Amino acid sequence: MSESVVKPLVLGIDFGTSNSAAALMDADGTLQVIPLDGARSEMPTALFFSMETHSVLYGSAAMQAYLSGTEGRLLRSLKSLLGSGLMDEYTAVGDRSIRFFDIVVLFFKELKRRCEAHVGQPLTHAVLGRPVHFVDDNAERDLLAQETLGRAALEAGFTHISYQLEPIAAALDYEQRVTQETTSLVVDIGGGTSDFTVIRLNPVRSKLGDRSADILATTGVHIGGTDFDRLLDLSTVMPLLGYRHIGTGGRPVPNGVFFDLSTWHLIHQSYTRKAMHFAKELWTDYTDQSLHARLMHALEEQHGHRMLSQVEAAKIACSISGESSQVDLAFLDPDLAPTIDAIGMEQALHQSLAQVVECAQGCVAAAGLTAVDVVYLTGGSSALRPLIETLRQAMPQATLVEGNRFGGVAAGLAVAGGVL
Ligand SMILES: Nc1ncnc2c1ncn2[C@@H]1O[C@H](COP(=O)(O)OP(=O)(O)OP(=O)(O)O)[C@@H](O)[C@H]1O
Ligand SMILES: [Mg+2]
Repeated sequence: MSESVVKPLVLGIDFGTSNSAAALMDADGTLQVIPLDGARSEMPTALFFSMETHSVLYGSAAMQAYLSGTEGRLLRSLKSLLGSGLMDEYTAVGDRSIRFFDIVVLFFKELKRRCEAHVGQPLTHAVLGRPVHFVDDNAERDLLAQETLGRAALEAGFTHISYQLEPIAAALDYEQRVTQETTSLVVDIGGGTSDFTVIRLNPVRSKLGDRSADILATTGVHIGGTDFDRLLDLSTVMPLLGYRHIGTGGRPVPNGVFFDLSTWHLIHQSYTRKAMHFAKELWTDYTDQSLHARLMHALEEQHGHRMLSQVEAAKIACSISGESSQVDLAFLDPDLAPTIDAIGMEQALHQSLAQVVECAQGCVAAAGLTAVDVVYLTGGSSALRPLIETLRQAMPQATLVEGNRFGGVAAGLAVAGGVL
């Protein structure tokens, strides 16, 4: 008597720096991107520990609670901490302290719970996406980051996990829609990293399990939208708090506090007692005390994420419209109205964008090619106008295809899971 073996559903999980998404292949082979956050497939990778209700909120609810002024602690960009020593450190959330690693586990548990509620059955198998490099130029820490990600998924209740590179997942998703063989450069520019693969896509070979012969090269660099936010925060908002302010003795104010305040995953460091004390003492370095008073106000009210969120919103608005966009800092000072415009954005991001495009060109060269047929763009930051322009100039022969910006990696991970 033959026993029928039921193949487990394999969840593709894209744990992103800014947004996470999940997808799976149904038993009948249909791809399902799971609505993780209301009707949306992408869920901000954010947690909010509310001091008012003593509860933990996730995704857009976490962002809303923080931005509407609920008392509590917001955590974002946790992926940037994978592979760093901070993962094992404890951080204060309200009246308790919790390990960063356990915060990642909480997020995975919630993601698993939402997926299971949607499909109506337990999910135990997962393919986890990973960037080409979690950490640039440090193989040991890079491996640690992947291992930590896997451990978090296991601790959240998955029993079987495997990994796939995010750009390859993005390519497998795109391949579902190609009708003839094309050599493509798949570009995934997210919140934390920019990842590339040159791959031969083919509607027939898409059914094969092992595609290694078609993957001609992969490259990646640890630059993404959160870095663009930092650079724009440093060029537009932080000078209003004293960054680059030439103070007493003709020297600029020490800049560490401004870097922490404008880096999503380090903001919390600027609120520690030691950092606050240090910032307070900086008054002797300022000639304009109103700037120092504004810095202290921002720190005391813990406005770091709020300022950076407004910078991010203005970045996106300027990127979409090409027009100047205001960074709303009314909560800090109603008289302040800095703006981000196309020229300022290009200047602030010029160097980083050049590095990203260099990495893209490096991928084509590593594939042994001088050009590709198609450049396929995915990831939220691939919509950034100056980036698209720089890429277009660097690869004039290729057709630029703007793809599924947010759910693509998860969908491709589910495709990978489906052929496991
Ligand atoms: N229209 C837009 N123009 C420019 N940037 C945008 C736009 N929309 C979203 N972004 C940026 O895209 C980033 C998020 O993209 P995405 O969700 O693909 O990243 P992620 O998958 O979380 O990150 P990673 O893959 O690097 O871990 C954010 O930095 C966001 O500010
Ligand atoms: Mg991503």
